[in-house]
Amino acid sequence: MKFVITAGPTREPLDPVRYLSNRSSGKMGYAIAAAARETGHEVILISGPVALTAPAGAEVVPVTTGEEMFATAAAHFARCDVFVMCAAVCDYKPARYAAQKMKKERGAFSLALEPARDILSSLTSSPHDCFVVGFAAETEELRRNAQRKLAEKKCDLLVANDVARTDIGMDSDDNELLIFFKSGAEKKLWREKKTELARTLLKIILDAREKCLTKKT
Ligand code: C5P
Repeated sequence: MKFVITAGPTREPLDPVRYLSNRSSGKMGYAIAAAARETGHEVILISGPVALTAPAGAEVVPVTTGEEMFATAAAHFARCDVFVMCAAVCDYKPARYAAQKMKKERGAFSLALEPARDILSSLTSSPHDCFVVGFAAETEELRRNAQRKLAEKKCDLLVANDVARTDIGMDSDDNELLIFFKSGAEKKLWREKKTELARTLLKIILDAREKCLTKKT
């Protein structure tokens, strides 16, 4: 089966030396890619800037900005069986890029931002056959926000994690996941190494996809 997996943060440049980004390490997405490779699947890993080694046998496409991630994901979306949008995409980007390094001024400084494209929603807004897995990193109201994103972003399955905790989530080797299915069911995966969680998550994704295909035929 062909998997397309996005991982890591995106970076939105402000000027030649500065950018907006977030703390995503890419570990969860890379662990899912490794688990898919271990079980013999073809993997295209669209990766934001991270300090990780690519899983053996995965085709890594490095990207920097959200628009680059969108263009690469869109090019592969129609031809994959499972699409996993694990990347922590910047929600906003600078309204203008300064071609020269911005000079320090006296006093307060404010930055004009504009919404960045929602990659997942853009892709799922047109008809598609692949099984779509979204992620949600939340600091509050995990269940409510995750259920809303599952529906709004038209995912088949949504994986939520609590990034308010320092022992799991962003940049940690461990995670704890709450998985939401379109049927309304949910499943908790308790704290474990991301590498192990990814193996369990992969089985859950493949099982849910199978059920979804059986329902369609
Ligand atoms: O940031 P948010 O909580 O909305 O992210 C939920 C899902 O949407 C994640 O799978 C994330 O990768 C995706 N997303 C996206 N484009 C954005 C923001 C988020 O595809 N601009």
